[in-house]
Parts: sequence; structure tokens; C-alpha cells
Amino acid sequence: MKLLVTGGAGFIGANFVHYTLKNRPEYEVTVLDKLTYAGNKENLASIGDTIAFVEGDICDAKLVDSLVKDTDIVVHFAAESHNDNSLREPWPFVQTNIVGTYTILEAVRKHDKRLHHISTDEVFGDLELDDPNRFTETTPYNPSSPYSSTKAGSDHLVRAWVRSFGLKATISNCSNNYGPYQHIEKFIPRQITNILSDIKPKLYGTGEQVRDWIHVDDHNEAVHLILDKGAIGETYIIGADNDHVNNKAVIEMICETMGKPRDWYEHVNDRPGHDMRYAMDSSKLRRELGWQPHYTDQNGMQDGLKQTIEWYDANRDWWQAEKAATEATYAKQGQ
Ligand code: NAD
Ligand code: DAU
Repeated sequence: MKLLVTGGAGFIGANFVHYTLKNRPEYEVTVLDKLTYAGNKENLASIGDTIAFVEGDICDAKLVDSLVKDTDIVVHFAAESHNDNSLREPWPFVQTNIVGTYTILEAVRKHDKRLHHISTDEVFGDLELDDPNRFTETTPYNPSSPYSSTKAGSDHLVRAWVRSFGLKATISNCSNNYGPYQHIEKFIPRQITNILSDIKPKLYGTGEQVRDWIHVDDHNEAVHLILDKGAIGETYIIGADNDHVNNKAVIEMICETMGKPRDWYEHVNDRPGHDMRYAMDSSKLRRELGWQPHYTDQNGMQDGLKQTIEWYDANRDWWQAEKAATEATYAKQGQ
């Protein structure tokens, strides 16, 4: 079985490739990745020649066509993924997330292949802090940022191709991932590498915002279950019930685990249009496909965070060269 993984040199995509080789050796994997600032071939270095790696753009229709023709399944992770970048410069988000997804869809349609499209909980917008509801597969779309609106657009394209052309596609919308190989611009690795660099962690605004954190391996296990057993045309929500910890609590947990006082952090400028709360109801995935996350509740998150901290500590060469530039970009925005 041949698997084409777009964005396989990024955070979740690389973890997906590692997970696949370890747990699903029946797959022959090809990665297509443009190696933007967020893609890093080092993320796949330990795998050696076990996979094929193609450096290229998902907007390159000729290249995409030739790769899709020669595969059985496309798992589409490639995207511009960072909200703060989308507020500074939205264009790459429109290009990659919308035009890139369109390009994949047309090749998948032409060659009649199976597609799984990776999406996010952010397409639903946000909940009030005191709203007990969670997002489900039928929650209306209401995205807030250029990033989330382009992901929403890509989901709509996939659904339209399913309905109009009978495309064999599934979609998953997952909450905030953490784990190894995540770019240090993102919240959790930024704070871990700040502490490892003797810089105080940076909390946007009051830090009351809630994200429904999930370990990347739990996400990728769900993606494999959807490839195995998911119903064509269906959407699956992926979330591990961690919607009770706000950003402030996560920073405090990181400080404590890394031997700093719980309040060893500083408040910085808030993100414009900052979504307040995400919470995911993944009961369909659990009920219909039998998925169960491993890193759940407060203890699971603590274990996952501890492992992640150990990974960034043990892999300083992976991130150190980019730290100063990443922090300089944030500093310009008072963040
Ligand atoms: P990432 O930014 O770490 O990685 C994205 C990868 O895509 C990089 O390797 C990059 O080089 C590649 N890429 C970007 N533009 C490309 C292009 N035009 N052509 C080919 N490759 C290109 O992102 P991530 O956090 O691993 O997210 C992966 C996917 O999961 C995205 O679709 C994102 O929307 C979705 N998602 C992420 C999260 C999260 O918490 N990180 C949660 C839910 C869904
Ligand atoms: O919800 C899923 C989404 O999660 C994915 O679709 C995105 O690709 C992914 O980047 C992530 O988006 P967020 O914007 O939620 O993640 P980020 O890591 O940027 O921020 C998480 C929270 O932490 C958010 O409320 C902003 C806050 N934050 C972030 C940074 C970088 C801080 O307080 N301080 C920081 O330094």
C-alpha cells in the first residue's frame, strides 16, 4: 500500500511518518514537502532511505499529479500552520492552504485515489470561557484568523469535491497538538526552549484562553484508524478531553516541571482576535472507530509534557540555531 504524505517534514507529518513506519510497516511512504521554515528534513533523518522524500510544492500541479498517480492514499498535512504568522502575512496561507489543497484535490479526482485531509478545530471559531459546550462534527464554521479561515476554505473544498465528483475523501479536525519536532514558534516548545535558554516564558494577555491539548501520537493513531475504517465522505473530530487547562496553567506546569517557580513567566501583548476557548467532542470517533487517547486528563498531559521537555532538552541542536531569530520576530510585536 503506497502512502503519499504531504507536509511530512513538519511537526505532525514527521511524527505521522515515524508512527507509520513503527506501527504500520505494510505502508510504503513518500513524503512531499516544500521545506518552508517549518519543514526540516532532520525530522526524518533517523529513518534514512526507508521512505522516499520529494522536495516540492503542493501548488505545483504537474509534480502533484505525477506523485498522486503513483500512490494509493494521500494524507494531506501540508499547510501554513501558525496563526501569528497569518496575522503578519496572510498570502502564503491563502496560497498553500487553499490553492494547494485544490491542486491535491484535482490530482486525486483525476486518478481516483483515496484522500485524508487534516484539519483543525479552529474552523469552528471559539467558545466563551463559561460555555460548557464542545465542538462536534455538525458545529457551524466560524473561523477567526487568516490561518483558520483558509483551513475552513480547504475543508469546504474537500466536501464539495466529495459531493460533486464522488471523491473518496475523509476529513479530521483536531485540537492543539504537542510533542517532539514542533517548531519553537508554537506555545509549548517556545516556553520550554525559553526556559532552556534562561529566558522567561511569555504568556499572551491574561492567559485565560483554553486549548484542548492532545499528544501528537494520539492524533496520528486516530488518523490511521480513519484510514483503516473511516467512512468515505465523513468528518471526524479528534480531541483528548483536555479542555480544562488554560494557557496560564500550562505555563505554570512547564515552569514547575523544569524546576522554576510557578510564576517565573511574563505577560506580553495579546494576539489580536485571540480565540478564547476550544473544546472537542470526539465521541463519534470513539464510538464508531474505537479510538481512545493515551495521554488524557491532567496526569496524561503531565506525562506528555515531561517527555516533550526531555526531548527539547536532549535535542538542543535541533532548535538552538533558530531561537534568536524566532524570539526577535516576536519581540517586534511586543510578544
Ligand atoms: P507545520 O507548520 O509544523 O508543518 C507544515 C509542513 O508543511 C512543513 O513541513 C512545511 O514545509 C510543509 N509545507 C508548507 N507549505 C507547503 C507547500 N506549499 N507545499 C509542500 N509542503 C508545504 O504544521 P503542523 O503543526 O505539523 O500541522 C500539520 C497539519 O495539521 C496542518 O494542516 C495543520 O493545519 C493541521 N493541524 C495542526 C494542529 C497543531 O496543533 N499543530 C492541530 C490541528 C490540525
Ligand atoms: O487548535 C489547533 C491549532 O493549534 C492548529 O490548527 C494550529 O496549526 C496550531 O498552531 C495551534 O494554534 P494556536 O494558535 O492555538 O497555537 P499556538 O501554539 O500558537 O498558541 C497556543 C495558545 O498559546 C494560544 O492561546 C496563544 C498562546 N500563546 C502562544 C504563544 C506562541 C501564548 O500565550 N504565548 C506564546 O508565546
